[in-house]
Amino acid sequence: MDQARWTEVDRYFDDLLVPADPVLDAALADSAAAGLPTIQISPSQGKFLHVLAVLVGARHILEIGTLGGYSTIWLARGLSAGGRLVTLEAQERHARVAKANIARAGLSDMVEVRLGPALETLPILAGEKRPPFDLIFIDADKPATADYFNWAVSLARPGGLIVVDNVVRKGGVADAASQEPEIIGMRRFAATMAADKRVTAAALQTVGSKGYDGFAVAVVKKQ
Ligand code: SAH
Ligand code: DHB
Ligand code: MG
Repeated sequence: MDQARWTEVDRYFDDLLVPADPVLDAALADSAAAGLPTIQISPSQGKFLHVLAVLVGARHILEIGTLGGYSTIWLARGLSAGGRLVTLEAQERHARVAKANIARAGLSDMVEVRLGPALETLPILAGEKRPPFDLIFIDADKPATADYFNWAVSLARPGGLIVVDNVVRKGGVADAASQEPEIIGMRRFAATMAADKRVTAAALQTVGSKGYDGFAVAVVKKQ
């Protein structure tokens, strides 16, 4: 079992489940042309997030880590009528490319891209009068993931869903001796999530066109 097989299987499912989509293709092409790193979620992962947004009947979605807006478009297309998505991005260039991609997708009225380091924009967001979020997708700088998770729990509604990308890092997350800041960050996040009595949570390993990684999901308890 290797990368070629994982990519082949993603292609098989994408052919069945992810219709050809000029808007998403253009978002990827323009992101690459602008020199953004190609670290966005895969098409099947995008469809998966879209299904989750539909499942929770999301009217309010928060994303931490926009890049070129690829995952943003998948999530925003899963909003229910009148829904809104806020996405947080630290890099001005990434935010600019994302805004253009979101506009081409016809989603500018539903999506707000907020520029700034998320640990600065999250407290501002929390101070605003706005409904709690139904779905929060965390996919920014990995060392701060535990901090984003704590913000997410306080910003989500009871029953709200928190999804975290890149929690496995090619299996590195199981290495307690790792010196990589990303692995150390994901281990701190996993311990934080596990200890948080306000959520019930799971983590799942994935393989596919983007390699070997995984998602964590946590639902905020209702009582
Ligand atoms: N969710 C995107 C990929 C995000 S890549 C997708 O799948 O399509 C991670 C993004 O987080 C990058 O654009 C990076 O600039 C951004 N980022 C890094 N540190 C950040 C911070 N402190 N606050 C907000 N965004 C940050
Ligand atoms: C990488 C992948 C991601 O999905 C991400 O959000 C950040 C980095 C990577 O492959 O390095
Ligand atoms: Mg990611």
